[in-house]
Amino acid sequence: MKQTLEAAVLERVRLEAPFVLVSGGKGGVGKTLVAVNLAAQLASEGRRVLLADLDLALADAHLLARVDPPATLADVLAGVRAPRECIVRAPGGFDLLAAGSGEHLLARDDADRRRRVLEVLADLSRDYDFVIGDTAAGIGPDVLELGAAADRVLVVTTPDPAALADAYGLIKALDAHAAEHNLDLPTPELLLNQVDGADQADGLAVKLRGVCERFLVRSPRLAGWLPRSAFVGASIAAGRPFALDRPLCLENHCLRRLSDRVQRWFPPFPTLKPALKA
Ligand SMILES: Nc1ncnc2c1ncn2[C@@H]1O[C@H](COP(=O)(O)OP(=O)(O)O)[C@@H](O)[C@H]1O
Ligand SMILES: [Mg+2]
Repeated sequence: MKQTLEAAVLERVRLEAPFVLVSGGKGGVGKTLVAVNLAAQLASEGRRVLLADLDLALADAHLLARVDPPATLADVLAGVRAPRECIVRAPGGFDLLAAGSGEHLLARDDADRRRRVLEVLADLSRDYDFVIGDTAAGIGPDVLELGAAADRVLVVTTPDPAALADAYGLIKALDAHAAEHNLDLPTPELLLNQVDGADQADGLAVKLRGVCERFLVRSPRLAGWLPRSAFVGASIAAGRPFALDRPLCLENHCLRRLSDRVQRWFPPFPTLKPALKA
């Protein structure tokens, strides 16, 4: 048993900077919005941030960040570009590693490709204080393996019952994946998006936590919330992170609280990595 555990730990590709994976189960809940704005907020606080679009087949973080990447992870995986050739500086002051869109081959399950993606991230991570990954929806092998490789998973959901059910499904699937591979996965934390306010976010988080405690013996905390907002919607339409405008508005207050929470996951700054995480 001990050997199996050690082998599993040794096999893992480790990044040199804290690796936060933004995921959520359901599509359209705001994963990319949160990933892009968290990256912009951390960058505005002086952190060196790489946002990696890990929705390999249907990437869109470059659209929200309004950058035109010269090449993408798809080119790196095809062996025609070096990873650093694909990185572009986004208006929010963070670097973006874009992925391909409509790459049907990258939609297929491929363990070697996944490992290669993690090796690319590990290499690039030397230059950053944080690596933020934006994932596809669902609980496919890419999401689960990336979640297992991440230092923390942020689960984004809206109040929509289907989104809440999928958020629970993702936490459950990550828990089962970790158990299957003898990995000590930190409990994911929640980001309640498109809520009316703190009370609704707290209420939904308490309910979701209760289900997780009952069935998974996991107690996911609320890392933060974001209001449903015309300002946020307009920022997406404009392709400009809302983190860059109206610093005093509620949306940016919420975003700063999320950024604080994320940074508290990795104390003490700047010795960011937890000493040991099996
Ligand atoms: N807080 C919010 N306020 C207003 N609209 C939002 C908010 N969060 C997400 N949206 C809407 O949801 C859409 C999907 O967001 P996106 O980040 O692309 O989701 P995902 O990456 O989870 O598929 C956005 O284009 C936007 O219209
Ligand atoms: Mg997305």
